[in-house]
Amino acid sequence: MLVSAKEMLNKARDGKYAVGQFNINNLEWTKAILLTAEECKSPVILGVSEGAGKYMCGYSTIVGMVKGMIENLHITVPVALHLDHGTFEGAKACINAGFSSIMFDGSHYPIEENIAKTTALVNTCDILGISLEAEVGSIGGEEDGVVGMGECADPKECKMVADLGVTMLAAGIGNIHGKYPANWPGLSFDTLAAIKAEVGDMPLVLHGGTGIPDDMIKKAISLGVAKINVNTECQLVFQEATRKYIEEGKDLQGKGFDPRKLLAPGTEAIKAKVKEKMELFGSVGKA
Ligand code: 13P
Repeated sequence: MLVSAKEMLNKARDGKYAVGQFNINNLEWTKAILLTAEECKSPVILGVSEGAGKYMCGYSTIVGMVKGMIENLHITVPVALHLDHGTFEGAKACINAGFSSIMFDGSHYPIEENIAKTTALVNTCDILGISLEAEVGSIGGEEDGVVGMGECADPKECKMVADLGVTMLAAGIGNIHGKYPANWPGLSFDTLAAIKAEVGDMPLVLHGGTGIPDDMIKKAISLGVAKINVNTECQLVFQEATRKYIEEGKDLQGKGFDPRKLLAPGTEAIKAKVKEKMELFGSVGKA
C-alpha cells in the first residue's frame, strides 16, 4: 500500500533523521530502491518528475508498477509515491492517478501566485490524505549550460507558505540540482536556521542531495531537514557500472547481451548508493 509522507516525515523530524526521496526512471530503478528500503527497514519516498512520468508512459502506469512491486516483492516498509517539482496541472493529474504525495513547485511564480495555487491544492490533498510539498526560493541547477548558485528563500515567505497547511516545505538554502560546481560556497545554515525559527515544526526538505558533503547533510538534519532528495547520484553510479560492464566486453560474452544481465550491475550500484544514503540520513531501522 502507498502511504502519505506525513507520518514518516513527522517521525523523522522528531527523531532527528531524514527520509530519502530517490527519483525513479524505470522498473530497475524502482525495484532497486524498494528492495533496499525493505532490506534497511527504512521508510522511503519514490520521486517522479514530470519528465520521468512521461518517459514511463504516464502516471497510471507508474502507480500500477509501484503498487504491483509492493505486493510482489512483499515490501512492508512505508512507501510514498511523490510527484517531484510538479506544475499545478501535473499535481492534479497525479492526484487523479493515485499518487500518495505531491510537490507543487510554485517557486518561480510571484509569492502571491505561489500562495494562491498552493492553497488551491491544500484542501484536496487534505481530504484525500495526500501529503503536499510546497517550495519557496527556487533551487538552482544547470540550465542551458549555466549553473546557478541556488537561491536562499526569504524566511518570512516560508512562514506564509508553511501556514497554508502544507505537509512539508522545500526552501532554497543555496542548494542546487545536479553536480555542484567547484566554487560552490556550500549550504547557507544561517538561512536554514532563520527559516526553521519561522516555520516551527514544519518538516523541511533539502533538494539537490547529490554531492552535498556528509557533514553538511548531518548539520542540515540537526537544523530541521526531514526529507532529502537524491537523483543525479543514482544516475551516475548506474552509468559508471553499465559503462564498466560494456568496456570489459561482458556484453559480448555468452548471453551478456540479455537486458537482465546488461542492466544488473547498474541496478546493484543503485542499491548500494541508496543504502549508503539511508545510513547517512539515519533512516535505517525506522520503518
Ligand atoms: P540531485 O539530482 O542533485 O540529487 O537532486 C534531486 C532533487 O532535488 C530532486 O528534486
